[in-house]
Amino acid sequence: MKITVRRGEIQKQRADALVVNLFAGATPSGATAAVDSAVDGQISAAIRLGDFSGASGETLLLYAKDSIASPRVLVVGLGPRESFDSEAARRAAAQAVKTLEGTGCKRIASIMHGGGTGGLEVEAAAQALVEASLLAQYRFEHYRSQPKSTSLKQLTLVESDPSKLIPLRAGAKSGQAIASATAFARDLINHPGHTATPVYLATQARRLARAHGIKTRILDEKAMAKMGMGALVAVGKGSANPPRFICMEHNGHKREQPLVFVGKGITFDSGGLSLKSVSGIVSMKKDMSGAAAVFGAMQAVAELGLPRRIIGLVAAAENMPDGNAFRPGDALQTLSGKTIEILSTDAEGRLVLADALTYAQRFKPAAVIDLATLTGACVTALGHHAAGLFSSDDALCERLILAGQQTHERLWRLPLWPEYRQQIEGDIADMKNSGGPPGGASTAAALLSEFAQGFPWAHLDIAGTSSSDGHRHYLRKGGVGFGVRLLTQLARTW
Ligand code: BES
Ligand code: MN
Ligand code: ZN
Repeated sequence: MKITVRRGEIQKQRADALVVNLFAGATPSGATAAVDSAVDGQISAAIRLGDFSGASGETLLLYAKDSIASPRVLVVGLGPRESFDSEAARRAAAQAVKTLEGTGCKRIASIMHGGGTGGLEVEAAAQALVEASLLAQYRFEHYRSQPKSTSLKQLTLVESDPSKLIPLRAGAKSGQAIASATAFARDLINHPGHTATPVYLATQARRLARAHGIKTRILDEKAMAKMGMGALVAVGKGSANPPRFICMEHNGHKREQPLVFVGKGITFDSGGLSLKSVSGIVSMKKDMSGAAAVFGAMQAVAELGLPRRIIGLVAAAENMPDGNAFRPGDALQTLSGKTIEILSTDAEGRLVLADALTYAQRFKPAAVIDLATLTGACVTALGHHAAGLFSSDDALCERLILAGQQTHERLWRLPLWPEYRQQIEGDIADMKNSGGPPGGASTAAALLSEFAQGFPWAHLDIAGTSSSDGHRHYLRKGGVGFGVRLLTQLARTW
């Protein structure tokens, strides 16, 4: 879907559908009132008759005769004015796209949601509209014999106030960059394990290097072993698809201490010799969602041209059972020199992240954020509505939580107390890779904290938020791309 911006009045646009909006319980004003009078008061009639109230998720589709140049008018509900925010704007935009998709409609002209009386900044309103419209029409059709694409071809943002056009264009551009980065991440997650192998992820990094000028360095198994990444190498050993360590650098600012993003890139998690059950294994192609978020964020910061230094690290491996696989009972030597005793080969994410976090030290980071589909325990605690946030740095937590509110990629802080570290004290090595079921998300984070030394650090457990079980608002069933918008927002406001 192509995005364009146009100065003009909405009721005068020539499109297949005009989109306007209404706050819950309100009477039409501004652009909505102008369209209402152009269609002989049909909108106010619907409100009067009780057919439409402006509630969130509600839509009213009208057919205009010859009074205006567009045959359809869609009014979307914005919900209550008091609780309106950028998420309400995104949901309204997604609702419009979902309602018009599959109709004969190809070109949409829309006003911004909340850029006027809603109180959003024009730039934020335009970004929300474009971002959510594009994300709502995302499709993953690579494996169908008859791929379907969206029926919508063009979305035009219409604004009559000339002073708003510059921020509106800027917001639309950011929205496009962020949506396409999120779609990239969704694609990586949705591709099955037989396609999206560690080597495939490395290829994607090279594509980012070519297309977006990101500096890329890739370590193969030999180079990793030579360096001493004993944990990452061990996790990859049972697979015919060899592991890779991927390092990406966006240099918008040469000398500053960088922000470093680290992603868990288990391209398929069978559990290894501690094999998962049928129901546990089925969705495990998504176990590289942390890596996908890092890839997406790197693309977004490069495309936005952020004047920041941002580094993305991905520890990519496939966790498989095999004669060469690492075993329960093994004692691994990590890059840091610390040793880890394996209780379960299914607790592999923390192992690959241990080496990646140690590697991050060399950049003298301003902060390191890791993202990982790390524990089922985090899904039990928070469900699908928030990612777990673990950090001993209150200021960093505050920044992340704020970015999470702004993007609606919400974070909820969970504890990282010394007691959780005691739970993973090793019998024959420095620590063990599982502390058992109690507090499973926190004991995993406690292991990571052993390796996140020398820089401010936060860990996001995205096991519950990385994929969606249905089409909700601007999310589609499958990979969410959770973290792309959050990390990009953090980098923009850093
Ligand atoms: N990738 C899984 C965690 C996961 C579970 C992600 C469900 C998404 C949805 C991780 O590698 C894992 O298997 N964790 C184990 C740890 C346990 C063996 C200590 C878990 O959570 O059961
Ligand atoms: Mn696992
Ligand atoms: Zn895993």
